[in-house]
Amino acid sequence: SSYGKINIAIDGPAGAGKSTIARRVAGLLSYVYVDTGAMYRAATWYFNQLGIEPEDEEKVLQTLPNLVIELIPGENGQRVRVNGQEATEEIRSLAVNAKVSRYAQIEGLRNRLVSLQRQMALRKGIVMDGRDIGTTVLPDAEVKIFMTASVEERARRRYKEMKEQNQITMEQLIADMSERDRLDQEREISPLRQAEDAVLLDTTNMTLEEVVESIVSMCRTFVRER
Ligand code: DC
Repeated sequence: SSYGKINIAIDGPAGAGKSTIARRVAGLLSYVYVDTGAMYRAATWYFNQLGIEPEDEEKVLQTLPNLVIELIPGENGQRVRVNGQEATEEIRSLAVNAKVSRYAQIEGLRNRLVSLQRQMALRKGIVMDGRDIGTTVLPDAEVKIFMTASVEERARRRYKEMKEQNQITMEQLIADMSERDRLDQEREISPLRQAEDAVLLDTTNMTLEEVVESIVSMCRTFVRER
């Protein structure tokens, strides 16, 4: 039953630890975790495979109705399938990293993904992470977190979880990440921005456990006091 359940929105720049934290919080509360970045990545991988560039907006929008993204919760984290094809690893590749922010600027694509995300949250008990969850996707989420960390710390964390470590230096990763942050913050539609009613959490000097604990306790306080 969804009685007593709330929705939790977690936004912030790349590598702030959102997905790891959101997954843990969801586990502790027996909620469902939704990684919206994975949806933009899945779309990027799909269009890239078809050779459709982000600049060719007309082609992207024409092809969009054919795109089917599945997020499948599993033992080793969420699996991602695109039109029935397994793409969990592929969507984390450097090729996808390099292009995802450009596809994410396309209004028609965002509208489609946002409406899927809202559907997923209807039954409550969702922990959703992304860039525009608190501002656009779920403006009524009961708990909103804006999670940040210094760019150096974020690059360090991303590097650790990367499969292609030998193909990139830390300097390059910091540069790529700053560029992606810039594109995400400066885009016209739903830019990365802290919602007015979101709690700012700078995790640069916090452990994973401390961050998880502080969010879970905010949620418990909310449920108790309402
Ligand atoms: O969280 P991530 O790094 O996997 O996200 C990949 C890209 O997707 C990010 O650079 C911007 C875009 N994105 C977005 O525009 N809106 C979201 N809600 C989530 C991600």
